[in-house]
Formats: sequence, C-alpha cells, structure tokens
Amino acid sequence: MKILITGGAGFIGTNFVYYMLKAHPDFDYVCLDSLTYAGNLKNLDKALEHRNFTFAKGSIADREYIFDLFARESFDIVINFAAESHVDRSIENPGVFLETNVIGTSVLLDACRKYGIRRFHQVSTDEVYGDLPIDRPDLFFTEETPLHTSSPYSASKASADLLTMAYSRTFGLPVSISRCSNNYGPYQFPEKLIPLMIKKALRDEKLPVYGNGLNVRDWLYVEDHCRAIDLVVMKGREGQVYNIGGHNEKQNIEVVKTILAQLGKPDTLIEYVADRAGHDLRYAIDPSKIHGELGWLPETEFSAGIKSTISWYLDNKEWMDDISSGAYALYNESEGKKYV
Ligand code: NAD
Ligand code: DAU
Repeated sequence: MKILITGGAGFIGTNFVYYMLKAHPDFDYVCLDSLTYAGNLKNLDKALEHRNFTFAKGSIADREYIFDLFARESFDIVINFAAESHVDRSIENPGVFLETNVIGTSVLLDACRKYGIRRFHQVSTDEVYGDLPIDRPDLFFTEETPLHTSSPYSASKASADLLTMAYSRTFGLPVSISRCSNNYGPYQFPEKLIPLMIKKALRDEKLPVYGNGLNVRDWLYVEDHCRAIDLVVMKGREGQVYNIGGHNEKQNIEVVKTILAQLGKPDTLIEYVADRAGHDLRYAIDPSKIHGELGWLPETEFSAGIKSTISWYLDNKEWMDDISSGAYALYNESEGKKYV
C-alpha cells in the first residue's frame, strides 16, 4: 500500500506522518509539501530515517509536477492536508488560498482520476458550516448542516469539498471528506491561538485576545484527529463526509487563562484587541456519525492534552526559536533542494 500525504511538513500532517508510521509500519509513504512558511522540513527528520518514507518538495497546484509524481509512484491512497490554513492570513491575502486550497485540490483530483487510486481523502474543516450562535448550546454541526462560510479560508475549503464530491458523483472517484474542529498539540505553527499564546506568555509579552474573548471553539487533540482520519480512510464509506470533534467547547479567554495558569504567568498579560473581521462565534461538532459507524471517540481530555502540549513546547524551545529567528526557512531552502 503506497500512501501520498500532502502537507505533511505542517502541523497536522507531521503528526499524521508519525501516527501512520507507527500504526501501519508496513505501508510506503510519500510526503509532498511545498514548504511554505507553515511547512518545516526539520519536523520530518525522524520520519526520513524510515526506509519506507520519502519526501517530495512541490506544490499541489503545479499540475505538471503532480502528474509526473503520480506517474512515477502509483499511489493507492492520497490524503490531502496541504492548504493555506490561517483565517487571519486569508483576510489579508485571499489569492493564495484559492490557488492552493481550490486549484491545488482540483489538480490532485485530476491526477487521481488519470492514474487511478483506491481513495482520495480531503482533510476539511468544520469552518465550512459557518458558525453557531453562542446562546444556543443545543445546536451542533452535523454532516447535513448546510455549507455557509464566513472567511476566504473557509470559502476556499468549502469549494474544495464541493469539487471533491463532484468528482465522486460525476467521475465515480472513490473519495471521502473529514471535517474537523480546532486541533492543538505538538508542531503547531505559532500563529494559531494556543502556540501563539504559549510563545508570548513564555516571553512575558502581551497576549492578544480578539474582541471580548467569548468566541467558542471545540478543541481536539491532534492525535485523536489523526486516528479518526486513519479510520475514515481505511474503513469509512466512499463518497461520505465525516465530522470529527468532541464536545470539548471552550471560550477563547478560558483557553488563554488556562495556558497562563499552567505557565505560572499573570492574567495581566492579557490584552483585548480589535476583533477579527467576520469572526465566527462558535463551532461545535456532533460526532455521532463517525462514532456510530467507525467507533471513534476522542480519547484525550483537554486538561491532559493542554498539559502535554505545553510540555512539548517547553521541551522543544529550539523548534520555536528556529521559527522566530527564521532559521527554519533557511533550512527548508537549503535542505528542500535535495527533494525537488
Ligand atoms: P498548516 O498550515 O500547519 O500546514 C499546511 C502544510 O501545507 C504546510 O506544511 C505547507 O507547507 C503545506 N502547503 C501549503 N501550500 C501547499 C501547496 N500548494 N502544495 C503543497 N504543500 C503546501 O496546516 P494544518 O493546521 O496542519 O492543517 C492541515 C489541514 O487540516 C488543512 O487542510 C486544514 O484546512 C485542515 N484543518 C486544520 C485544522 C486545525 O485546527 N489546524 C482543523 C481542521 C482542519
Ligand atoms: O475549526 C477548524 C479551524 O481551526 C481550522 O480549519 C483552521 O485551519 C485553524 O486555523 C482553526 O481556525 P480558527 O480561526 O478557529 O483558529 P485560530 O487559532 O486562528 O483562532 C482560534 C480562536 O482564537 C479564534 O476565535 C480567534 C481567536 N484568536 C486567535 C489568534 C491567533 C485570538 O483571540 N487571538 C489571536 O491572536
């Protein structure tokens, strides 16, 4: 079994690579990543020691490159993590989100059609459903919730989902989609809430909380997400969408205060700043489909997950420092050349 993992040098992709190498040590893996600012080739150092793991540097939006790769490798399964993933950046510069998230996904779908695969899996997000009101805790996103996006990021992810389903219906391509809530854990780029707040708190810098801090996210430990994707790809039904999340809703301010308390830092570091444009109020997943069909449930409680996440960032200060100094980008540039 040969698996293509795109976006494997980013946060969830890296965690997924290590999860799969352990869960299915007999498979062969190719990780494709264009090493944008969010990709970090050093994350994959230990994976590259495995003889059944190789890396390829290239963009999913580069049709010629992708078709050559598919012609050479004969993949059985393609799992697409590659994306521009940060909402704030999509507000600043939507164009690259369309290029990677929409065009890139369409190129992969075309390559899958041409060369044949057993499964194309699109890693999507709960943000495609828009948001839920804060004062209706009885409401959750199900797979039937209409797509209703708020940001250029979520609009681009929804477009990719629609294309994926269109290739299933029109061309009979064997696809699946998973839509997950907010992940946290090791290797997350420090532009996202949790690692950003850890980084700033450790440096005694102000922690910028958007708006009133009462927006709600449904936090999932990244390893639980990896296990869910593995299950959907291996055992989930073709042409289906599976929501992944776990009744673990927290207000942003609660998350920030938890981080400060764990690091022994004062709440006075919190600074309320201007709200994000179009800021989604609340995300909350109903995971009954994946639970009922595949037996999946999240295993990591937030209290334990946030503790081990903070420990990881404390134990891997060099990882964070390399990002702050830009050393990781120089490494990507020089070492990445070996894998073009
Ligand atoms: P990330 O930004 O940390 O990583 C994205 C990776 O994709 C990086 O390694 C980057 O270099 C690579 N990439 C970007 N453009 C590329 C291109 N054109 N070709 C090849 N590689 C490219 O993102 P993440 O948080 O790990 O998210 C991974 C996937 O999961 C995304 O599709 C995202 O939409 C989805 N998702 C994320 C979350 C979350 O909480 N982080 C939740 C649900 C779904
Ligand atoms: O729900 C899944 C999505 O979760 C993924 O699809 C996205 O790729 C991922 O980035 C994440 O999106 P969010 O916008 O929810 O994540 P972010 O970490 O950017 O923000 C989480 C919440 O914290 C959100 O309500 C905005 C707020 N926030 C964020 C930052 C970076 C702040 O208050 N201050 C900040 O500095």
